[in-house]
Amino acid sequence: LRDKYIGLIADAADENALEALRVQAVGKKGEISLRMRELGKMSPEERQIAGPALNALKDEINSALAAKKAALADAALDERLRGEWLDVTLPGRPRRQGTIHPVSQVSEEVAAIFADMGFAVAEGPRIDTDWYNFDALNIPAHHPARAEMDTFYMHREPGDDRPPHVLRTHTSPVQIRTMEAEGAPLRIICPGGVYRADYDQTHTPMFHQVEGLAIDRDISMANLKWVLEEFFAAFFEIDGIKTRFRASHFPFTEPSAEVDIQCSWVDGQLRIGEGDDWMEVLGSGMVHPKVLRAGGIDSDQWQGFAFGMGIDRIAMLKYGIPDLRAFFDSDLRWLRHYGFSA
Ligand code: PHE
Repeated sequence: LRDKYIGLIADAADENALEALRVQAVGKKGEISLRMRELGKMSPEERQIAGPALNALKDEINSALAAKKAALADAALDERLRGEWLDVTLPGRPRRQGTIHPVSQVSEEVAAIFADMGFAVAEGPRIDTDWYNFDALNIPAHHPARAEMDTFYMHREPGDDRPPHVLRTHTSPVQIRTMEAEGAPLRIICPGGVYRADYDQTHTPMFHQVEGLAIDRDISMANLKWVLEEFFAAFFEIDGIKTRFRASHFPFTEPSAEVDIQCSWVDGQLRIGEGDDWMEVLGSGMVHPKVLRAGGIDSDQWQGFAFGMGIDRIAMLKYGIPDLRAFFDSDLRWLRHYGFSA
């Protein structure tokens, strides 16, 4: 009996075979257990010999089963290790990482600088009504400014009673939406895409602006100038960079100013923040009282300044990117060259 089971256990091919052998030998109805049951029929003398012998055999078979089980597990592990062998000395396969687009990078930089001056980021829809894009900003129907903007109008079927929608031509409608939503006082910037039907080396039908709006009880052009000079010094990393305010006109600001930053051209190369040339970078002014009222703000109690700046434009200036159109061509070589690593 002993030799039979020790032999069978040694030859067992896997855990299932081993378990079958365990049941057959030492299970409740196994061969050894049956023999043990017969002990009762024996004489005491016979039992004294057979009992311990059977117990010893049972123990021996149990340890043989356990040893074989461990050996099988070891063998399985060895087999797996052979199969999954990995040459850690092989060179890795390089993975191409995407880059952060200059527009995204600069939007983040702008938001971070204005955040330090207490400006929160606001957002509005790129498809907006002509009321938000024009009327509320003191640009009524038939105003020449509408024609100058080269507006994309959304198509409307006859009988559509929704108000006319446009692709926003600037970020200024977000001024009105934020005034309506939050009231005064207010300090926000709004970066985002805008649309105009125009295309050449410095114009694309979609581009980006960042709007700024500060409303409080006594805000002046002096505050505007300080905020913008702080911004340009931080953005271009040039202390004391000079700005020039030129009288201008926008329907939604009064007075209005276009703002230039100091620059120079050396050997055909643009240098920001030195010399005595000027580069226009934004439009600005004191928010027109009609615009405050359109946003639901009492223009006797509150006043504010606003500005709108081209993000792509200042990205080109800061990072020396020559052609605006390339921003939106999705050329991977361009993106790898001008993009930022995450
Ligand atoms: N919305 C103007 C533009 O797109 C810029 C601007 C914004 C001017 C706010 C004044 C105040 O040209």
